[in-house]
Amino acid sequence: MTPTAIPVKVPFLDLKAQYHSIKLEIDAAISQILESSQFVLGEEVAGFEREFAAYSGAAQGIAVNSGTSALHLAFLAAGIGSGDEVITIPHTFVATVAAIRYTGARAVYVDVDPASFTMDPAKVEAAITPRTKAIAPVHLYGQPVDMDPILEIGRRHKLVVVEDAAQAHGAKYKGRPVGSMGDLACFSFYPGKNLGAYGEGGMVVTGNAEYARTIRMLRDWGQERKYHHVLPGYNYRLEGIQGAILRVKLRYLEKWTEARRSHAARYRALLADTGLGLPAETPGTRHVYHVYAVRTREREALMKRLNEQGIQTGIHYPVPVHLQPAYADSAWGRGSFPHSERAADEVLSLPMFPEMTEEHLQAVSQALHGR
Ligand SMILES: Cc1ncc(COP(=O)(O)O)c(C=O)c1O
Repeated sequence: MTPTAIPVKVPFLDLKAQYHSIKLEIDAAISQILESSQFVLGEEVAGFEREFAAYSGAAQGIAVNSGTSALHLAFLAAGIGSGDEVITIPHTFVATVAAIRYTGARAVYVDVDPASFTMDPAKVEAAITPRTKAIAPVHLYGQPVDMDPILEIGRRHKLVVVEDAAQAHGAKYKGRPVGSMGDLACFSFYPGKNLGAYGEGGMVVTGNAEYARTIRMLRDWGQERKYHHVLPGYNYRLEGIQGAILRVKLRYLEKWTEARRSHAARYRALLADTGLGLPAETPGTRHVYHVYAVRTREREALMKRLNEQGIQTGIHYPVPVHLQPAYADSAWGRGSFPHSERAADEVLSLPMFPEMTEEHLQAVSQALHGR
């Protein structure tokens, strides 16, 4: 009797495999914080701020407790508040819009370019009103936004540009790192992100010293010095343990990013004949494939088949923000942003993580081919 091959199961991502590949360094970094007792902010966080800001081509980094907090404080530092409008896209994670709302401002949407899933620069100018204060493009899935025309519109209309780079650590646009182009840029270190903490984390990076000073105060109760509160602030500080872990992991990020890019190239070759819409890499950019989203009109059936074969998938995101009950705005209903709405109906995220093997990639391909 020939033994039957055990089908390869493919998780959506494998944080445990990554931990085991760097366990000794991570455990030492955590122990060091336990010994120093610098549990909140501290030297490791400060070191990580310097290193990650440099990696992102920015002068300063201010670490906070999530990507959402980073966006909230970036908007506040830029002076955005009640009565203001911020232009963004509806095909994003809800946090982009939630952070705009936290300031009292209104999110105004422009549709995405269907090839890149990012802000269509040609639509931005028509969305500007006398109340517009900022533009918040999102480097969705790790694909850099076409920034030059957006930066030019920002300059011409005196608008602040805040990059939502939560999904795009290490991505590049015409050789410039994501994070170095807008007035401010915000990253998330949620565990599943390309650079993930072992808990929550985020950072604002900026070249503007005044914004940096304000954000440093806002994340720590608006204190100029201990118990001298000059701004109504927040408790948004990053934990020392997360800073120490992220510092270790940052040293591996380029290697992990190259692994993601090589898996994406392999998917492109393996899936070329499936009829699926494969992610387009905009020329002149470095896509970092936080999410590998394909397009299909048979999403439910494909998800079911993959799931039955032990292959996990995801949908990023099934409902665009303008159609979410919590963020409804009478200005927009179904049909307002057709490319975003169609993306929400068609995108399917395949497994993507640096530790994927050729076996994993083959198993996904075979399942998608119906074999
Ligand atoms: C595009 C985008 N913006 C903002 C966020 C918020 O980041 P966090 O989950 O760290 O608050 C996320 C992550 O979940 C995201 O994907």
